Amino acid sequence: MSMPPVIGTPGSLFGRISLGYVIIESQKRADWQRFAGDGLGLHVDADNGGDIALRIDEHTRRIVVCEGPAEDVVALGWQLHDEYALELLLERLRAEHIEVRQVRGPEATRHGVEHIWAFDGPKRMRFELFTKPLCDSAAMAMQASGFVTGSMGLGHIAMTTREPEAVLRFFKKIFDARLSDTIEDRLNGITLELSFLRMNERHHTVAIAATRGKRMDALRTSIHHLNLQAKSLDDVTQAYCRMRQMGYAISNGIGQHPNDRELSFYVASPSGFDIELGWNPILVTDEAGWNPAHYQGISLWGHFPESLTFGDKLNQMQRGLVSLTRNEYTVGVSA
Ligand SMILES: [Fe+2]
Repeated sequence: MSMPPVIGTPGSLFGRISLGYVIIESQKRADWQRFAGDGLGLHVDADNGGDIALRIDEHTRRIVVCEGPAEDVVALGWQLHDEYALELLLERLRAEHIEVRQVRGPEATRHGVEHIWAFDGPKRMRFELFTKPLCDSAAMAMQASGFVTGSMGLGHIAMTTREPEAVLRFFKKIFDARLSDTIEDRLNGITLELSFLRMNERHHTVAIAATRGKRMDALRTSIHHLNLQAKSLDDVTQAYCRMRQMGYAISNGIGQHPNDRELSFYVASPSGFDIELGWNPILVTDEAGWNPAHYQGISLWGHFPESLTFGDKLNQMQRGLVSLTRNEYTVGVSA
């Protein structure tokens, strides 16, 4: 295979990988359609098979809501920007004896791509690698003015874990992710440690949150949130107003994080995890000059919980305690 033009360091995936798509399993597809289309302002396509496909750019399927009982994200699609990058990643998985399954045909089309190389990622989320998205140049019917994607991908995800060292090792060693910064926050008397990993110019594509001391996971869903980056501040404020009017629970009102400086709010999706809609985060354009900083507190201002009830807090505490009795799946990656 011939070498591609050099982006970053030869032999490194950095700058050659991005979050491509997210697959959700839900029994609330009608609600998802309303939430994503009328609320967030995305372009919605519903197909005969019952899938809700959401578009925010030329990719035919950036978010797919399929019929199923999980009420959760079940797969993350990772776009490798060229064949060389895909081969590099597959080689690493082989070296770690991680089993990879290939998927083509209708199942791949359903996820908006031609060909998938799938394996079990952290917390047994299915990781699906691809190089060729199916694209559509037809105009979109969106309430938002647009979204920032391109080589930086769909957006970012944040996940909680009881095995942060293993998850960090996986993303750093297999995906060549780099640490952008860390944040420490106190929540209901518990200290949370967050690590933000970038894979391209986007400040972070994955955020990893863990409790200090006894590792607990208070979430039912595999991710805490999926972030989408809107093109304008109006897109964010107008979506915030629509979501409130439509009666969706605003998990955190508009605010700003200290590290990526994005202005954003969080709304609870029909499947329970949050969608963070944000605007204008900083990019990491000077790789040589970037030094990971450590911040105290998850938000500079705002992000006030608007919908958290005492019952929610009790449920979270209960789930956190129950998580102590279960092992979390980690991808076996050698140190
Ligand atoms: Fe986020």
